Amino acid sequence: MVIRDARFICSNTQVALCPEPALPEYAFIGRSNVGKSSLINMLTGRSGLAKTSSLPGKTQLINHFLINEQWYLVDLPGYGYARVSKESRANWAKMIRAYLEKRTNLSCVFVLIDSRLPPQAVDLEFITMLGEMSVPFVLVFTKADKQSGSRTAQNVRTFLEKMRETWDELPRHFVTSAVGRDGREEVLGFIDEVNQQ
Ligand code: GTP
Ligand code: MG
Repeated sequence: MVIRDARFICSNTQVALCPEPALPEYAFIGRSNVGKSSLINMLTGRSGLAKTSSLPGKTQLINHFLINEQWYLVDLPGYGYARVSKESRANWAKMIRAYLEKRTNLSCVFVLIDSRLPPQAVDLEFITMLGEMSVPFVLVFTKADKQSGSRTAQNVRTFLEKMRETWDELPRHFVTSAVGRDGREEVLGFIDEVNQQ
């Protein structure tokens, strides 16, 4: 897929204020600092489109980006950052739940997982919630450039084996690097496929 045009539309905390749900939408979510905003920049080829930071907790709002005037990419705030108050955590959960429940044009959620780590409880819990809410999702294992390919493959296998304990069917998954641009064609090809369904 060729990205001809990618532009920021709006940021907000309320689903009711998101753009009219007339086009398919793909949301990126995962632990703080896992690389959601970087992946959006890598996929669109626009390095400053989504704001990134080496400090976790950079993205705080629901951010809509319109791609090729045809579909939206959505950058969401991450979860699992330890230095966050109980109140902010509760607000995050409320906002994300409302987003997942009410966004009628949500075609698929991309759950980003740090490819360097063993299965993390927060990721598994979030995935369980998506299952309970019947939200379609796929997995993206990020930062693959930070270790060998065989190490990444092993961690992906371990994660999927963990999921197999509770899931009959495993989701599709992708391995990406925002630095090496790995996985770009695969993720964009998948979006193309879903857009055409
Ligand atoms: P929050 O908005 O805080 O939830 O974080 P995020 O998930 O949007 O992460 P972000 O894209 O801001 O990236 C966090 C840090 O990881 C930044 O320092 C990025 O440069 C780095 N990073 C992201 N993706 C990759 C990657 O694929 N490879 C490497 N080496 N670094 C990455
Ligand atoms: Mg971010």
